[in-house]
Amino acid sequence: MSTPIPQPPGVPLLGNIFDVDPSNTWWSLKTLAEKYGEIFQIKALGHRVVFVASAALAEELCDQKRFRKYVGGPVVEIRYAVHDSLFTAFENEESWGIAHRIIAPQLAPEAIASHFDEVVQCTDDLIAKWQGLDPANRIHPLDDLTRLNLEANVLTLFGKKLNCVDGPEHPMIRAMEESTSEAIKRPTRPKLLNWLVYGGKLKKATKTMRSFAADLVKDRQEHPSDRRDLLWTLMNAKDPETGKALTESQVIDEIVTMPIGSSTAPCAIAAGILFLLQNPDTVVRARDELDAVVGDGPFKHEHVAHLHYVAGLVRETLRLSCAAPGFNIEPIPKPGDESPVLLAGGKYQVPHNQALIIVLAGVNRDPAVFEEPLAFRPERMMGEAFEQLPAGVKKWFGNGKRECIGKHWAWEFLVVVMAKLIREVDFEAVDPSYQLKQDGWFNIRPVDFSVRVKPRAR
Ligand code: HEM
Repeated sequence: MSTPIPQPPGVPLLGNIFDVDPSNTWWSLKTLAEKYGEIFQIKALGHRVVFVASAALAEELCDQKRFRKYVGGPVVEIRYAVHDSLFTAFENEESWGIAHRIIAPQLAPEAIASHFDEVVQCTDDLIAKWQGLDPANRIHPLDDLTRLNLEANVLTLFGKKLNCVDGPEHPMIRAMEESTSEAIKRPTRPKLLNWLVYGGKLKKATKTMRSFAADLVKDRQEHPSDRRDLLWTLMNAKDPETGKALTESQVIDEIVTMPIGSSTAPCAIAAGILFLLQNPDTVVRARDELDAVVGDGPFKHEHVAHLHYVAGLVRETLRLSCAAPGFNIEPIPKPGDESPVLLAGGKYQVPHNQALIIVLAGVNRDPAVFEEPLAFRPERMMGEAFEQLPAGVKKWFGNGKRECIGKHWAWEFLVVVMAKLIREVDFEAVDPSYQLKQDGWFNIRPVDFSVRVKPRAR
């Protein structure tokens, strides 16, 4: 006999429509996870979705023999902008394998290492900007980190310096925000309303993003270079398995996908700055390590492997920020078999075609795994302690075949930026009583979090 999956009471006819705020879906899901624990479901507009919020159940859903990525809801909506790109392709689309095999080598650790100095250089631009501010400054770190991320992403992968760390906001930033927010909200509205009222917003944002990508391609065609980066690969490489190349439209799809995926990284770092402010002892330990490993000289790629405490600090930031707040799973269809799918050894059961969402705000703070789950403790993310954690709590980059293809890029960016900020600037809380509140779309970020920043006092 299975246990019924808990569900908030809801209202007649409309179900749980008021239990999830369409303007801040993930915060609602976090709140529900805190109330209902390892699993819960909501029903609205004729759909039922099951949410999983424990490490053990997340690990079970990450079994690729039984489950796979579910491409539905907002992920399908963003196909308007990027079609069958890596992030949005359905399981049966040949395009995913072709693009994956073409792109993966350019995002592998060796390729990423070759861009280390470029990431350092972009980060230097941000630090110079911050160090030049009036001592009474008050900044929203997320805004500047988002600019830095776009700058570094486009420079390393597509060879173009945008110079957008300072000055007016780059149009891509608004367009990414508009398209992803719209993709999340569309499944919650009637189709006619989406078409009549909101269609223009998605169309305009898509045009901005695709024109930006098309300009990068045009620029490279007009100014050929020896640079063998992701842009060159997208434009020239052939899939080693099928011999197929990407079409012009697919090249644009993948270029647009990269900064959207990458925009998760600044959300993590912004939350990381808050964790550092709340835990000044971690700054002291990280500085000791950085002083010992890097010293007064330039920060080099070979230092990274020796920054064990900084690595723990970055992982703990990924755990607690849940910057990518979750991912969608479905049971792998078994032709002719519509029997329910059993979870937790039969404790729960769901229909054979049930969409399930892993809510990392629950999973990453599972009290069955972490003592004082809300405490920021980089030590638990280092060495043996980290190795011994269950796989379910290490899913900040997703899972298996559809795991984040940009994870090595993201890791290098997070380590470089966090290490350099810790080493070179001091942050001061504007509101010392600020408590983390997040909102966002495909990624979540601290709301109304501001700090003062100054050169490091030596
Ligand atoms: C802290 C930074 C990042 C986090 C936490 C993160 C997290 C994730 C997660 C959880 C997924 C799986 C989504 C799913 O199953 O639906 C994913 C997929 C993806 N990410 Fe990231 N990501 C980050 C940075 C990046 C960067 C820097 C890039 C690009 C350079 C990127 C590009 C992608 C792409 C293209 C996919 C789809 C992969 C596929 O399905 O084949 N991400 N990411």
